[in-house]
Amino acid sequence: MERFDLVIRGGTVATAADVVRCDVGVRGGRVAALGTDLPKGTREIDARELVVTPGGVDGHCHMDQPMPAPMKMADDFASGTLSAACGGTTTVIPFAAQVKGQSIAAAVEDYHRRADGRAYVDYAFHLIVTDPTEQVLRAELPRLIRSGYTSFKMYMTYDDLKLNDRQILDVLALARREGAMPMIHAENADCIAWLTDVLERAGHIAPRYHADSRPRVVEREATHRAISLAELVDVPLLIVHVSGAEAMEQIRWAQSRGLRVYGETCPQYLFLTEEQLAGEGYEGAKCVCSPPPRDKANQRAIWQGIASGVFQVFSSDHAPFGYEDPHGKKPGGKSVPFRYIPNGIPGIETRLPLLFSEGVGKGRIDLQTFVALTSTNPAKIYGLYPRKGTIAVGGDADFTLWDPQREVTITNSALHHNVDYTPYEGMRLKGWPKLTVSRGEIVFADGRADAARGRGQFLACALPQAAKAAD
Ligand code: URP
Ligand code: ZN
Ligand code: ZN
Repeated sequence: MERFDLVIRGGTVATAADVVRCDVGVRGGRVAALGTDLPKGTREIDARELVVTPGGVDGHCHMDQPMPAPMKMADDFASGTLSAACGGTTTVIPFAAQVKGQSIAAAVEDYHRRADGRAYVDYAFHLIVTDPTEQVLRAELPRLIRSGYTSFKMYMTYDDLKLNDRQILDVLALARREGAMPMIHAENADCIAWLTDVLERAGHIAPRYHADSRPRVVEREATHRAISLAELVDVPLLIVHVSGAEAMEQIRWAQSRGLRVYGETCPQYLFLTEEQLAGEGYEGAKCVCSPPPRDKANQRAIWQGIASGVFQVFSSDHAPFGYEDPHGKKPGGKSVPFRYIPNGIPGIETRLPLLFSEGVGKGRIDLQTFVALTSTNPAKIYGLYPRKGTIAVGGDADFTLWDPQREVTITNSALHHNVDYTPYEGMRLKGWPKLTVSRGEIVFADGRADAARGRGQFLACALPQAAKAAD
């Protein structure tokens, strides 16, 4: 038998289905064998004290996404994917975003130019549909879907991105025809605009009021409406970045009725609260994201939704805007009223360690659930499985090797993104990636990245099984 390039020996190997102690043999960048006492490889890793999981699949993150001036994301595909690799993620799915009036095919071409030659790990693209013209719906989207861009996000808020219900129906109908996977940002734009005006008239412009402008009912209403629109069209729908109990209840209700409605949540809804928006001076801007973080009771509700299966996907929603940054949280170099603060927080590197430590380590979820949420389910839902998202013979040799005993205090200076803060500064975690392996290559080891820029490959996504029409 041809020699293995790499053998990961004696680790606790976890997939979404099982946890077993075994060796993993790698050849040509793929898993070639799983077993005990595999023959020696060219390279060997002693994993007896380590947990081996499939490399993370971050199904929702942003990097180098074109923004209206003066905003500019701090991470491009180099720093964004490097940071991902150092946090155990081997596949990222950021967004090729259509600007209103722009051809969506042009947005995809532009996004490829931004990614080409820069990525450290593999990447696929979701699309963001902001202008569903006849040309986009009849020609561009069907062509793109058949070329491997099989999922797309719609927004119910943000003036430059939002669609009305009629437009959402048009896009959902197209998703149904083509078997694509629609995702939606569910917040009611008119409620937010009205509340923002009311708050501003009262002089409430500090970052803390961001949370008051987007209360839970605004998310709940939009979540229910999005689910209703998907039910009308009979198409699956994934609700992204769910923040609290009410929106989650809508998803649970839809699932209990047999609708193909999926839920995603993110670290900010488990580890941050709206109190952090009220930080010293303008510091709260660091935690401005939408929907906003809620309170402790809602954190508990989200944990419960993770453990009970309401959520299928745990993503970072990494949105890299610097704090002391004229292109980030201080547009033009100034503290601004909350409505002008770019939304989103960084977290591509801390996503997995946070859930590993506080979820698996504290007994809230088991290892299989951790793997399902962070790797297997996004790979399945977005058409990358079984190449990505599991450890199986024939699949890509993408792994995270965890030292479950290692204690780490999160500090921004140790992270690899290009953002000048982390909202999780000072959090003490137990369990941290020791090694990240991407297609058989060690890209991160013992705190140091070790990979060639540009080695990451573009992944064309298949049509997701879940999106196949029911009839
Ligand atoms: O506040 C957020 N979530 N910003 C990132 C963009 C988005 O809506 O996902
Ligand atoms: Zn969103
Ligand atoms: Zn996002």
